[in-house]
Amino acid sequence: MKKRVLSGIQPTGSPHIGNYLGALKNWAKIQYDYDSIYCIVDLHAITVYQDPAELKSKILELAGMLLALGIDPKHSSLVVQSMVPQHAELAWMLTCVTPLGWLERMTQFKAKSETADSIGDGLLQYPVLMAADILLYQAHVVPVGDDQTQHLELARDIAQRFNSLYADTFTMPETRLPTVGARIMGLDDPEKKMSKSTTGAGHAISLLDDLKVIQKKIMRATTDSSPEVNFETMGAGVKNLLSIYQAFTEVSDDALRNEFSGLRYGDLKKKVAEAVVSALEPIQARYREITSDRSYVAKVLENGAERVTPAAADTVEKVKRAMGLYTRN
Ligand code: TRP
Repeated sequence: MKKRVLSGIQPTGSPHIGNYLGALKNWAKIQYDYDSIYCIVDLHAITVYQDPAELKSKILELAGMLLALGIDPKHSSLVVQSMVPQHAELAWMLTCVTPLGWLERMTQFKAKSETADSIGDGLLQYPVLMAADILLYQAHVVPVGDDQTQHLELARDIAQRFNSLYADTFTMPETRLPTVGARIMGLDDPEKKMSKSTTGAGHAISLLDDLKVIQKKIMRATTDSSPEVNFETMGAGVKNLLSIYQAFTEVSDDALRNEFSGLRYGDLKKKVAEAVVSALEPIQARYREITSDRSYVAKVLENGAERVTPAAADTVEKVKRAMGLYTRN
């Protein structure tokens, strides 16, 4: 039997090249090696206020984009978290075995609660819900970026605690992460990871950005005061542009060096822009084709939920039994 892989992405903002090169490209690549479930985590999104009409359309946009990027609904289950009520149900049960101290220690919670003007309880529970996503399907492998490793560790701790407190119920997700993709930084500030929540026109390249806009953003990307590429001394901005180029074209380190050493920054940017545009053009065309039929995306999501529900229901039933909650037989 194939191992199960599960990952999730929030339907907030628009997916950008950092999401694509860091995670989504890999999702499509590994889907045939695993029994794969990819989850659009709308319940995570609402841990901070989302405009209702916008959230719904972002969910459909993201689903369409995941399909355009090659997630194959015949092989992978594409699931909207809130369509499978067992995510929230299991999250509650896991909340009850999670010490408050574990949650207060999470660095992402601490960072988010420093900036938010009011901290919802959901923000604290966020990693418990993520643990529920993973444990609900008894996932073995959870590809996430390094900003999520603490949450993944917590999911293991929760599983372990439940298993020893009640009964052996959950598969331990592996800590070993499959080789994850490139870590892409903001074009305007190469010290910061490219983020959906950072505003500013020059920060991120959305996968649906107009091709001319993409070109402009890259031409304006922050570099440094040197005139040309020097692999020994280059700053974070140049390094980031080269990472973007390499991640899209998959050229070797040697080829990259040969191609770019000594190149002036203007020419570097032109080449990077060309590579990005030629990779995104067919993706955008597929996206337009897929989303031209709204009912198609909706149907894929219905199927995905239907396909994973037996596994989800089975886990919740086991958890209820283990905890002594009422079950019919
Ligand atoms: N918290 C993850 C992120 O922001 C998204 C996520 C939610 C997730 N549930 C998950 C990732 C389960 C992996 C597995 O990137």
